Amino acid sequence: MSGESSFTWSFVGSHFDEVAVRHETSSRHLSPKAVDGWVDGQLTGLLTSSQSGIVADLGCGGGRASVAALRRGRRVLLVDASREMLRIASTRLAEFDKARWRIHHGDACEALEEADPEFDLVLMVGELLAYLPDPGRALRLARSRLHPSGTILGTYMRREVLVDRLKQDEIVADDGAALILRERRGSGLEPDLLAKAFSDSEMQRKLTDAGFRSYDLFSENASGRGGFVARPV
Ligand SMILES: C[S@@+](CC[C@H](N)C(=O)[O-])C[C@H]1O[C@@H](n2cnc3c(N)ncnc32)[C@H](O)[C@@H]1O
Repeated sequence: MSGESSFTWSFVGSHFDEVAVRHETSSRHLSPKAVDGWVDGQLTGLLTSSQSGIVADLGCGGGRASVAALRRGRRVLLVDASREMLRIASTRLAEFDKARWRIHHGDACEALEEADPEFDLVLMVGELLAYLPDPGRALRLARSRLHPSGTILGTYMRREVLVDRLKQDEIVADDGAALILRERRGSGLEPDLLAKAFSDSEMQRKLTDAGFRSYDLFSENASGRGGFVARPV
């Protein structure tokens, strides 16, 4: 695949450093967009359950999902590749007891490998999977760090929709299951960011291969995004 070297977590992090303020002042989450509404509904349901364990918010960005978890009494590990995103997250979290949240700057997979506790909820919302070199590995690691009754909630970019919307020079590769797309960077001086979109059946396969036995997918056409909620049992 051309441009594979662009996928280091620090490269992706530097891109999100540049767009952090714009990203975080846009209206994503708790917005009427179908996939965001679905995520918010799932999150509300999962966070009002009787569980009190730790939530991992991977690719947490500005920490909106973590705020929802902290408001419901959870403890949260926030992980992101972008220092600027984490700076925004820590401002947002300032109202909560610091003993209940921890921020980790780095790669989501490395954080999962190093994680001690079992999580009862792992979040990969906001298309973290699109930016990882090996999304299947991230799902396997998340599965291995989940409490047996835990849940993973995530979103992904949908190949089915995007393949017809992108211009030819925005598509780097497409094997029918996964599409690599080019996200142009403003300055034109730096390499473009590459991102991955998955077909719904490929997303299902990845979840099954990672050891998730039950899952629901949510597919949406308007934004070209989808969501999944999956459990090991
Ligand atoms: C589109 S933003 C979504 C942020 C937030 N979850 C939300 O839904 O608003 C994707 C985030 O994933 C982070 N990210 C990308 N690759 C990463 C990696 N390998 N490890 C940790 N974070 C990563 C980016 O820095 C960025 O903040």
